[in-house]
Amino acid sequence: MLKENVTKLLNEQINKEMYSAYLYFDMANFYVNKGMNGFANWFNIQSKEEMDHALLFVKYLQNNGFEVTLSAIAKPDKKYKDLKEPLVEALKHEEYVTDSINKIYTEALKVSDYRTLEFLNWFIKEQGEEEKNANDLIVAYDLHGNRGMFALDNKLGDRIYTAPSLQLD
Ligand code: FEO
Repeated sequence: MLKENVTKLLNEQINKEMYSAYLYFDMANFYVNKGMNGFANWFNIQSKEEMDHALLFVKYLQNNGFEVTLSAIAKPDKKYKDLKEPLVEALKHEEYVTDSINKIYTEALKVSDYRTLEFLNWFIKEQGEEEKNANDLIVAYDLHGNRGMFALDNKLGDRIYTAPSLQLD
């Protein structure tokens, strides 16, 4: 049986992952409006992955007999001044999510909840990849410069969705 302090944080994480999906969806729409369909593709897939993350938290809680409570998802209200700004914001956001996952990990550790720690290990690793991807995108943007932006956009258009390697029955 999971402890209340841990289930509370896991339940809150569902909302954070859903907000991430919404935020990246908003960024994808921003790029569509700028005619950058490759960037939009990249963020649409990112958004789908965040939905996957949310569903994993739901499934984990349900598998442990916990009744999930959903709360309102905040409106992404950022206005981006140029093509680079969403990339910088995305990295900041991933750092925030990493911090949030780490906090749940710390709480689970305090109460020797090894089952939840095992579950969270996948997310700890995933956050490392998420931050790296977000940072790589900023580096690629800076390297390509304005003239190379269509080449980068084409490349990002090649990203395809893959389901998370973590699957819960
Ligand atoms: Fe759900 Fe981008 O981490």
